[in-house]
Amino acid sequence: MGVSCRCACYDLVKLDGDCGGFGPAIRRFGAGRIRDCIRGRAAPLSRRSDSKGPHMFAAETLAAIRDRFAHVDTCPITGPRVFFENAGGALTLKSVVETTATFAAIPDNQGRANPASTHLMQIIAKARDDMKLLLNAPGGQVIVGESGTEMLYRMIRSAAMGTGPGPVIGSTLEHPASRSAARLWAERSGRNYIAVAHDDATGTVTPDHYRPHLRPDLAIATIIHTSPVTGMGVDVATIAAEIRAVAPKCLIIVDGIQHAAHGLIDLTAAGVDGYAISPYKMFSCHGYGVAWLSDRLAALPHEALVGGPAENWELGTRDTGAYATLSDVVAYLDWLGGSISTESDPRARIEAAGAAIHAHEHALCDAMLHGTGNHAGLTALPGVQIIGGAENPAREGLVSFWHDGLASADIVAGLEARGLRVHIRKADHYSGNILDPLGRPDCVRVSLAHYNSLDEVAQFLDAMQDIAG
Ligand SMILES: Cc1ncc(COP(=O)(O)O)c(C=O)c1O
Repeated sequence: MGVSCRCACYDLVKLDGDCGGFGPAIRRFGAGRIRDCIRGRAAPLSRRSDSKGPHMFAAETLAAIRDRFAHVDTCPITGPRVFFENAGGALTLKSVVETTATFAAIPDNQGRANPASTHLMQIIAKARDDMKLLLNAPGGQVIVGESGTEMLYRMIRSAAMGTGPGPVIGSTLEHPASRSAARLWAERSGRNYIAVAHDDATGTVTPDHYRPHLRPDLAIATIIHTSPVTGMGVDVATIAAEIRAVAPKCLIIVDGIQHAAHGLIDLTAAGVDGYAISPYKMFSCHGYGVAWLSDRLAALPHEALVGGPAENWELGTRDTGAYATLSDVVAYLDWLGGSISTESDPRARIEAAGAAIHAHEHALCDAMLHGTGNHAGLTALPGVQIIGGAENPAREGLVSFWHDGLASADIVAGLEARGLRVHIRKADHYSGNILDPLGRPDCVRVSLAHYNSLDEVAQFLDAMQDIAG
């Protein structure tokens, strides 16, 4: 594989490729340096000239990772399969399955004067603290609601109805969750909506795209952290900083739903006001969404019970088990960070885990695109077109493509028949914003996670060779 890509993390991926573990890279440079490198804030890490291949988790680490997830290689409905549908919902931690069952059986409610109730409230308080650690957001408020979409709607609606005049800005890269909420509540609160066009060629949006649209009276901005259709990440911190430089009072709300499973979240660095996550896409389970609100956003008028505590954003009784699973996710990332680094500080371990996840997924995507061993990559298959381009440093564990001569639905069905689960994205209300400008009715989305292996990528490439070679 070539080294022409200037992406810093590409260099990290190549670094110590022959060491059989991620630990040496972290020990050599430190998790903070790697994090800055991945974000493009530090110079690329130096490569070893004897590097023999992409850097992934060591085999025993990957085995330990996979052992912590349910249904890692077998679908409970269809049997053995490779799971490359992580953008539709990641695998669930076994600890989350156990925790969910445990709390589902507890009848007690919060806010009562008994030990069971006190225990439940302690679980919720701990989960909120754990989430703040994961998000690196010491202040603000963590709340749980119906879904990630609903969390985005609630934050955007409250911002639109509660803040002073001025337009709303967002980008065409965004999932309809934030785009729809921003358009609807801009209209209902008498504001203009400014749509920043994303770049079709790279499948992302950058500060350069936002810059010409920035103006001092901007009241609300929405930013997507990672596109679930192109798989490309967005430099949230730089866009947010540029917005604030021009419009200091602008409330900035981020859709982190696709990004959350694929690397670091650092809301202190991002300096935003709201961040939404769907836990089922971050190793927990279905049924709820999570949001972090800055103190400024949380202080705005919002729906609440008359006479209730002013700071309370949650509507009705929340599931303690849902909160408890967030602690399971954070405990898992803490374990992962501890097992691949010597960090003792909890946040540093989370950062180490995030850097390692990013590097492993990057290497898997690289193999999927350019091949591994004697398995030809997607780019070598005639007729395959990669959305966002094959050499794209913004890619986060996801490859979307179409074939000039084969229907996406047939490729998805062909892969399923060969034991590989992927998904079709159509130019509908979910993905039309990405596919329409490309003139495509649909595409095949292959979405990875850090528990996927090079063997699984090789199986995928063999199946693609069979289908399209
Ligand atoms: C970036 C992004 N935003 C919003 C959503 C909607 O999330 P949910 O259906 O969990 O509300 C998704 C779902 O995949 C997503 O990837």
